[in-house]
Amino acid sequence: MTQPFLLAQISDLHIKARGELSYRVVDTAGMLRACVNHVLALKQQPDAVAITGDLTDGGLPEEYALMRELIAPLEMPVYLIPGNHDKHDVMRAAFANHDYLRQSPGFVQYVIEAHPLRIVAIDTVIPGESGGALGEEGIAWLDRTLARAPDRATVVLMHHPPFTTHIGHMDAYGLRNPEALAAVIRRHPQVERILCGHVHRPIEVRFAGTIAATAPSPVHQVALDLGVDAPSRFVMEPPAYRLHAYTPEAGLVSHIAYVGEFPGPYPFRER
Ligand SMILES: [Fe+2]
Ligand SMILES: [Fe+2]
Repeated sequence: MTQPFLLAQISDLHIKARGELSYRVVDTAGMLRACVNHVLALKQQPDAVAITGDLTDGGLPEEYALMRELIAPLEMPVYLIPGNHDKHDVMRAAFANHDYLRQSPGFVQYVIEAHPLRIVAIDTVIPGESGGALGEEGIAWLDRTLARAPDRATVVLMHHPPFTTHIGHMDAYGLRNPEALAAVIRRHPQVERILCGHVHRPIEVRFAGTIAATAPSPVHQVALDLGVDAPSRFVMEPPAYRLHAYTPEAGLVSHIAYVGEFPGPYPFRER
């Protein structure tokens, strides 16, 4: 088996201005620094990193400046998409050298052809709202873009997941029109995975002939409360990110990497 193409997916960083805590609790900058160090210490270095939205907490220039500084040690290509906490113009200005962010003039939607796994990013953000949607233009662009390379294994990046999580307060701010996306995805079986953020938990669902999945966060996690009336709460469960491994033979294999200091590894020996 050949060494896989590795895509690390880090989602929902929620970086605040230097010295500020998110929700008066979370040191997002310190936790992102730990996450970046964890990635850099992986035995097999990722070939690329995708950051699936909510890069900052308030979309402020000083937040993007700090976030940029924190991810600077990542020397592999890093691909960003906005989440509902981001501001497109501010994000584009902060990452002026990320040319792919300007493939489309309005929405942040782009395609990356440089890797064995084709990366297609779409924009679900409705300015000023927590929930998301895909516009008609975005849907049509996705359909055209996927149609151009039917034989290339592909992942679609989007911030809002197109499925029910059963976490009441998150579903209240989910994606408004998952059916429109499903109709497109169903026509393009080369889509290995739809990689989402927003929910700060790892979740997988069968979706339109592929798998749609969210990622855990390297900062705070959303509380595991599957109630329709689940209140908006977060917990400091172990921070984590996803490590996706692709080979043509095995397809896309998705792992979770936990950030922290843990005992081991130990050899599997009885004595
Ligand atoms: Fe988030
Ligand atoms: Fe979000």
